[in-house]
Amino acid sequence: MSSNLWKSKLGFILAASGSAIGLGNIWKFPYMTSQYGGGAFLFLYLFCVIVIGYPLLVGEVLIGRSSRKSPLHAYESKNMFWRLPGIAAFIATFIVMSYYMVIAGWSLKYLVATITGSLQFGLENNSDYSDFFTNLLGSYSSLLLYTFLFFILTMYFVIKGINSGIEKLNTYAMPLLFIILIVLAVRAVTLEGGLEAVEYLFKLDFSKINTTVIIAALGQSFFSLSIGSGAIIIYATYLNGKENILKSSTYTAGLDTLVGILAALIVIPIVFSFGHDLSQGPGLTFVTLPYMFGNMVGGFIFAILFFALLVVAALTSTVALLEVTSAICRDAVKNKLTRNQSIVVVSVSTFALSLLQMGSFNVLGGFTMFGGMTIFDVTDYLASNILLPLGGLATALYVGYIMPKHKVIQELQSEGTTNVGVKTMLYLMTTLKYFAPVVVIMVMLSITGLVKF
Ligand code: TRP
Repeated sequence: MSSNLWKSKLGFILAASGSAIGLGNIWKFPYMTSQYGGGAFLFLYLFCVIVIGYPLLVGEVLIGRSSRKSPLHAYESKNMFWRLPGIAAFIATFIVMSYYMVIAGWSLKYLVATITGSLQFGLENNSDYSDFFTNLLGSYSSLLLYTFLFFILTMYFVIKGINSGIEKLNTYAMPLLFIILIVLAVRAVTLEGGLEAVEYLFKLDFSKINTTVIIAALGQSFFSLSIGSGAIIIYATYLNGKENILKSSTYTAGLDTLVGILAALIVIPIVFSFGHDLSQGPGLTFVTLPYMFGNMVGGFIFAILFFALLVVAALTSTVALLEVTSAICRDAVKNKLTRNQSIVVVSVSTFALSLLQMGSFNVLGGFTMFGGMTIFDVTDYLASNILLPLGGLATALYVGYIMPKHKVIQELQSEGTTNVGVKTMLYLMTTLKYFAPVVVIMVMLSITGLVKF
């Protein structure tokens, strides 16, 4: 492994937040929140973050920093079973990257189209915007171009290295992202109907809670925090031994959650204010928002800001995905490839899978499995609902049962710079040993349809 460390004190927090904050927060979280009942979903989501997501995040940082190895060998044990989480992480990130790049490409296309004026604002009705979206999805060559551009952009930063590439990108991108988010949220909340939306978002209606909503909230918390994918493990291998793990994880989980909420505060008020359908799903960002930007004062500027926000957030995540997959790849071939060779090999192979992903919106749309699922649906399901939770389960079991307790404490103490209280240990150990494994297993059983709760 490289002996690089993050240069600045905030390096890890910015990079880990950069990985966590992405399309999952800005594109997925608002539409899921609105689809699954507003406050009820938000409440469950926060619950999942506190009792499962956060402890797992701490667990992954612990594993990465104490081993300083890629996820393939970070679960240190002679038992070959513990190579599996690394392999699962590789497959998961490989798959996630193959479709994430495509959606990131849509965002780039929307940004470019807004700036050049090919996406016209102020059109009469919503369907003109759905035509734009449908045309984009239907055009293999457009998808190919923008996905390819996103691959190049991502490779550029990862090849530049940990400090001058990834750390520098996150140091500029994350503050920028926050500024854009806050400007947009203030604008959205002050629209007519904005406060109604805020109420929808924060009002808890227990009657809306059911198994589907619980599964959605848990899956989203894993995906959003980048848990189970090895990304946090890799980033933690570059973390200085003296940095406080609990604090870094608190910031990462806190910022990730805050961005999800801010994004919902942008999207939901805009939808409320124009009286649109909240249960739109994935089209919410790409169809409904452009229509609304076109009909609000200063919409053109806000549209540019919004799509720039999506692009920046996606980029800091694709960079993390490429960094982790290429690190595992290099580890798997016992460093026979150089860092750059590994980055290129992984990018080219992922791009090959992306070629199929792009097709599932058009030429391969008719090619479905398991009752109507396209390649895109199947791979997303496999990664988000099966591989990432299994990765999280492995982390919980490893830190809870395999890693010697004194080592866990020693690592948390960060070379003696931090005191770890009894209550903190009790909370971490209880959640990792019992809570996280039980919940993940129950949710997996329920998802696979083996057991109905
Ligand atoms: N957390 C990212 C998002 O919310 C998605 C993601 C999942 C991810 N696993 C990852 C990003 C691993 C980078 C690395 O958009």
